[in-house]
Amino acid sequence: MANSSELRIARRMDEVGFSDIVQIRNKVMALRAAGTQVHALHGGEPYFETPDAIKYAAISALVQNQTHYAPSSGIAPLRQALAEKVNRKNRIPADVEHVIATVGGSHALYAAFQSVLDPGDDALVFSPYWTPIGDLVRGAQARPLLVPTTTARRNGIAATLEQFSTPQTRAIYYNTPQNPSGVVFTRAEAEEVAAFARARNLVVIADEAYEDLVYEGEHVSIASLPGMAERTITCYTFSKTYAMTGWRGGYAVAQEPFMTALRKIVLYATNGVPTPVQYAMLEALQTPESEIRMRLEEYRRRRDLLVQGLRAAGLECEMPAGAFYAFPNVERIHRISRTAAEILLDKAHIATIPGSVFGAQGEGHLRFGYALPVDQIEAAMAALKTFLG
Ligand SMILES: Cc1ncc(COP(=O)(O)O)c(C=O)c1O
Repeated sequence: MANSSELRIARRMDEVGFSDIVQIRNKVMALRAAGTQVHALHGGEPYFETPDAIKYAAISALVQNQTHYAPSSGIAPLRQALAEKVNRKNRIPADVEHVIATVGGSHALYAAFQSVLDPGDDALVFSPYWTPIGDLVRGAQARPLLVPTTTARRNGIAATLEQFSTPQTRAIYYNTPQNPSGVVFTRAEAEEVAAFARARNLVVIADEAYEDLVYEGEHVSIASLPGMAERTITCYTFSKTYAMTGWRGGYAVAQEPFMTALRKIVLYATNGVPTPVQYAMLEALQTPESEIRMRLEEYRRRRDLLVQGLRAAGLECEMPAGAFYAFPNVERIHRISRTAAEILLDKAHIATIPGSVFGAQGEGHLRFGYALPVDQIEAAMAALKTFLG
């Protein structure tokens, strides 16, 4: 029974969950500790290590005493390089004052939702969606409105967005390539989302964490479309392209009035990205596009191998056009994806993520990550085939 002297946390935190994915990670660790070999396909980390040049840039920054407070929005050469990159590669018109360094893509997304949403607002979210997004929206005391991606692509993006909108809708979360489905929206689809946002005066929060992992089609930054740079906050990360998940490097691109809000949030949440990490980010931006494309081909090999393995084991799986996940239908194992994931982990020692954690539209599916060494994918698919007979 609650009484008035009981200590409690802020009520808005009651609506915020704590990643289901962590629970799976814990179970994998427990199995491994007990000596069981686990096929770890539940993760989302690149298969290679952070390139040496990036590590040495951080070491060199430390040795040169770049260990002091930096401007909270990022050191000048980094912001200059980021502005140059988004103009060149993403075709987003941006000056130095339109970019801000963040502690990973997660921090950029947190700052974006906090900058845009008021209590009682709604945000349209294509579903299945990356799990933290629901919590980021609810943490801003707003409500995620889940828009089934498959239905939207089949029946028309604008008509489906319209169907799920409310008078309180303020924003659209637009992630391409998508985690967990691997969907890459086409240019025509991006144009439809953009037209809808302009007509309804909505803000777009674009998540381009996997911009360099597109196997089919092209990556279109929605902020590059006419009339969109001023109403889009685009969030990026160094985690995936450069294998820098633990460095916590990211950035956001936005115009006013949003940039002022982003700056305040970054200032008070972290007072900026650790200074040596900013030098590592600056070095990462020097990576030749040819190297990024070479890794894309490595990922393509892994994608083909995994999807081939899933299909050979009798699972229905669409070929993902981007990112590094496959999202097959697993109703053959169990209709409820949580149960299917448990069965697969307990009986075949294959760790995956239940589709339902990515929204109701993910039910009946499991997410298999393929950012792994090739032999690990082969071993997992052999185990799956044996298990499903
Ligand atoms: C869709 C999506 N957006 C953003 C991120 C953020 O990554 P980070 O916080 O490591 O930069 C991730 C990481 O898995 C992701 O899958």
